[in-house]
Amino acid sequence: MSLIGRFLVFKTAKILPTLLIFAAMVIVYCLTHKKMLHSTWTLSSLRSTWRQKTLCLQAAESSEHQGKYECKDYSPKMSGKCHVLELFTRIDPTARHYDSEIICDQASSNFDLICRLHLKQIGLQSQQSTICCLDKVDKVPRIVYYVIFGVYQFRLVHYISLRATSRFIAPSAIYVVGDQHPTGKWWRKVLAEVQGVRFLFREIPGNISGLPADIKHLSDIVRLQLLYMNGGIYLDTDTVVLTDLQPLLEHNLTLGLVDNSTGMGNAFIMAKRGNDFIEEWYSHYTKYNKSNYYWNSLQIPQQMWLKNPRRVHMVDKIYRPNWFESELLFNKSGYPWRNNYAVHVWSAPNYPVPEHIKEITSANTTIAEIFRYVLYEDLSTRI
Ligand SMILES: *[C@@H]1O[C@H](CO)[C@@H](O)[C@H](O)[C@H]1NC(C)=O
Ligand SMILES: *[C@@H]1O[C@H](CO)[C@@H](O)[C@H](O)[C@H]1NC(C)=O
Ligand SMILES: *[C@@H]1O[C@H](CO)[C@@H](O)[C@H](O)[C@H]1NC(C)=O
Ligand SMILES: *[C@@H]1O[C@H](CO)[C@@H](O)[C@H](O)[C@H]1NC(C)=O
Ligand SMILES: *[C@@H]1O[C@H](CO)[C@@H](O)[C@H](O)[C@H]1NC(C)=O
Ligand SMILES: *[C@@H]1O[C@H](CO)[C@@H](O)[C@H](O)[C@H]1NC(C)=O
Repeated sequence: MSLIGRFLVFKTAKILPTLLIFAAMVIVYCLTHKKMLHSTWTLSSLRSTWRQKTLCLQAAESSEHQGKYECKDYSPKMSGKCHVLELFTRIDPTARHYDSEIICDQASSNFDLICRLHLKQIGLQSQQSTICCLDKVDKVPRIVYYVIFGVYQFRLVHYISLRATSRFIAPSAIYVVGDQHPTGKWWRKVLAEVQGVRFLFREIPGNISGLPADIKHLSDIVRLQLLYMNGGIYLDTDTVVLTDLQPLLEHNLTLGLVDNSTGMGNAFIMAKRGNDFIEEWYSHYTKYNKSNYYWNSLQIPQQMWLKNPRRVHMVDKIYRPNWFESELLFNKSGYPWRNNYAVHVWSAPNYPVPEHIKEITSANTTIAEIFRYVLYEDLSTRI
């Protein structure tokens, strides 16, 4: 071996331990880093669970709530061999996710079932809880659902929607149902300011009747499941209610038409528990047609209603201004929205939805007026 060769072997032998130590340090760094990430994640989910527990306990202890709802022994309506879960899983196998012990037990007809599922998820004993009692079973319960799947960053309009729900409906609970917690500062503001908000984890359905599905349609079937199982009020996150919905609680089912050619709207649905129209609508997803985007979700219910109009209490003034009337909502003022039950904040490319409070404080537009009304209880512009 040449002198240079021997020199190299000598040098490598000297460097090798250093290299090994360096490699070990890299491995240790990666491991601790991973552990740090992991513990941050656990901490934040713990914090959120803890927060939800506190809110639930506060609600349970508030005497106002206890006086209002009693767990009366109503005649069982949904008992038997748990028809509900059989119906659901035919189209969506992930509906097994709903706990059959809770959904189908003896007491189920007197309870807000989603509340019991929620309490179980956060580790509170649900059976003995009085906070899950229904106020009445012969009416639409004041329980509101939003369904969100996937990564969901809350925006100003979503915050406004939840603020309006809380203010005008005064629900016993608002369930945000999804496969992951929403994110963003507007969601944090919701948690801080809106009473009775509960996140319910729901596995995302893999398909509809075995066919790959659009994510929008996955939310469509889950909202029908929630309403059929529990009754209540479903709202899209961009639907803003504008009045108390008291007069509508008497009806079996309340819907509104988007327009004759688009079909029935499903951004605002009020239904009593176990409603037969909801059941039939849901059952049509056994013949899911993905290529016709509006078919199962908007056109089937429209046809069902046209066939027998008495089954649905129809209201207009939910979807107006319509998606083809964005001008009236975003760039003009003077639309008589005070007669509406709700407004659907359709987004369209040339009509941006306000994203910041400063965009609504002084704008002379219908949307700004509505947002000011929800937040400040008056319509006037502010400086
Ligand atoms: C549909 O989804 C369910 C639940 O996620 C899954 O078990 C099943 O294999 C899926 N079916 C098809 C045909 O992809
Ligand atoms: C929509 O259809 C209903 C029922 O067929 C009808 O009463 C109504 O006039 C129609 N509206 C429009 C705008 O075409
Ligand atoms: C789905 O809808 C499309 C468009 O309306 C139609 O051409 C097709 O035949 C429908 N498919 C099924 C299976 O109904
Ligand atoms: C409401 O639902 C009940 C129970 O299913 C039914 O008996 C009643 O006829 C329905 N009312 C209307 C107006 O359809
Ligand atoms: C509507 O108003 C927004 C600003 O508020 C503007 O960006 C947009 O271009 C307007 N759209 C039309 C079609 O005038
Ligand atoms: C707002 O705009 C309308 C026209 O859309 C106008 O009539 C009204 O005077 C304006 N209001 C204010 C306060 O500028």
